[in-house]
Amino acid sequence: MEVANAVRMAHQFIIPQLHKAKLVIDATAGNGKDTLFLAEHTPESTTIWAFDIQQQALFHTQLLLTQHSLSHKVRLVLDSHANIAAYISQPIHIAMFNLGYLPGGDHTISTCPDSTIQAIKQTLPLLAVNGLITVAAYPGYEHGRQEGKAVYQYISGLDQKKYTVACWSMVNQLNNPPILYVIEKRKE
Ligand SMILES: C[S@@+](CC[C@H](N)C(=O)[O-])C[C@H]1O[C@@H](n2cnc3c(N)ncnc32)[C@H](O)[C@@H]1O
Repeated sequence: MEVANAVRMAHQFIIPQLHKAKLVIDATAGNGKDTLFLAEHTPESTTIWAFDIQQQALFHTQLLLTQHSLSHKVRLVLDSHANIAAYISQPIHIAMFNLGYLPGGDHTISTCPDSTIQAIKQTLPLLAVNGLITVAAYPGYEHGRQEGKAVYQYISGLDQKKYTVACWSMVNQLNNPPILYVIEKRKE
């Protein structure tokens, strides 16, 4: 297994689940790389919901999916992931959150603690047993540090009988490297 960064680790955690996933979410579509990853590693019948608040992000995601002939599997939603429950009522098998701002875009438009936690709160009751939520957080800048801290505070309080909550990071890197949180639902 190649251990290189938090997002790649998120992919490694979810790969064993993807072949049986019916509904998966990319909560932050961005440039579409994670959406493409989900589309490439799930069965033809899987539905992928990809959220972003920026039209530019969804444009890039659509383009990438079209280039790979996978856009038919994906529903793109121009809305905050804080409204996930307004779109989805079926069990969620995987939800990926790659926090922060759009690479190559406006760095002032970033994920925020309140909406991120709201989205996680809405996803948890819909998460299938053995389903996973991954959250890649970026504490290397102040806003990201605050957001990562808020996420940690919330998820570290989840009932251990129902959820396993883990984190992964590189421990010999300077300047607050990214942190990956992984939440697994153990039982309803
Ligand atoms: C780090 S990027 C995601 C990278 C992406 N997964 C990829 O593979 O390219 C974070 C994205 O989150 C989006 N975002 C910020 N706040 C959001 C919200 N409340 N709901 C959904 N997306 C949001 C930003 O517009 C940005 O495109």
